[in-house]
Amino acid sequence: MPYDPSNDRSDIVSLHGKTALVTGAGRGIGRAVALALADEGASLALTARSEEQLAETVRMVEERGAKALAVRADLAAPAAVTVVTERTTAVFGRVDVLVNNAATVEPLGRGTDINPDAWAASFRLNVTAPAALAFALLPAMTRAGWGRVVNVSSGVVARPASMIGGNAYVATKAALEAHTLNLAAELSGTGVTANVYRPGVVDTAMQALIRDTGAGRVDESTHERFVRNHRQGRLITPEESARSLVARLAGDASGEIWDVSDPG
Ligand SMILES: NC(=O)c1ccc[n+]([C@@H]2O[C@H](COP(=O)([O-])OP(=O)(O)OC[C@H]3O[C@@H](n4cnc5c(N)ncnc54)[C@H](OP(=O)(O)O)[C@@H]3O)[C@@H](O)[C@H]2O)c1
Repeated sequence: MPYDPSNDRSDIVSLHGKTALVTGAGRGIGRAVALALADEGASLALTARSEEQLAETVRMVEERGAKALAVRADLAAPAAVTVVTERTTAVFGRVDVLVNNAATVEPLGRGTDINPDAWAASFRLNVTAPAALAFALLPAMTRAGWGRVVNVSSGVVARPASMIGGNAYVATKAALEAHTLNLAAELSGTGVTANVYRPGVVDTAMQALIRDTGAGRVDESTHERFVRNHRQGRLITPEESARSLVARLAGDASGEIWDVSDPG
């Protein structure tokens, strides 16, 4: 089913005076989420590795009249989470909204060809870093009695066999979802929610990477699906996806999987 913006809730909570940390905010969905949060009045802490892309997101946030802090970090590196949380809290005091968006789709390839270190690195970025960021920031959120954790997953978790060659990616996103739903149960009654966000099929660099370099690394039918979705104009924009995520922050729902309909 194509994306239908009328399904989005529009009763947006005011984020004035609140701080949001968005990982992977240099481009794609992360940048669009950061800008949508800035439009709601939040101050933004933004992370990614690419300095220039982060600087451009900072410029775009500030253009909207919101404050922005760029913290360049490789979130697959062990010390990165401490660096990001310490710099962010030093500048803003507390994080109220955490959007764990940064992820890699690599390593792509048949399981037998995958280097175990590359497999582990994908888990460090896609699962361990989001969990560690949440664990570091949650005490202040629960003390404040309000907070939002959103972990960006993928619709592929609902159909894990549909992406042969993406074994690590599919496994990391399934783990991220299990972590999120377990965390939500732990947070019950605190005013802090944790939800999964499946962003739909979105026109970003990650989609382009699979289209452009996936042949021979993911199976043929998967590669054809990525090429076909793009050719047939079935991808939604990062801005459409981000609006859907931010619109849901107003609610108190926790432990949910928010899924932007995708063409499969
Ligand atoms: N696009 C889709 O159709 C789609 C579908 C399902 C789920 N998703 C999910 O949506 C999220 C965003 O994806 P996207 O499509 O917007 O991808 P993207 O355009 O490739 O953006 C990924 C962002 O993550 C950052 N990142 C990557 N590796 C990093 C690292 N080691 N440390 C810190 N930051 C890192 C990137 O910046 P640097 O490279 O500069 O570090 C970039 O800002 C991901 O969780 C993805 O799995 C996307």
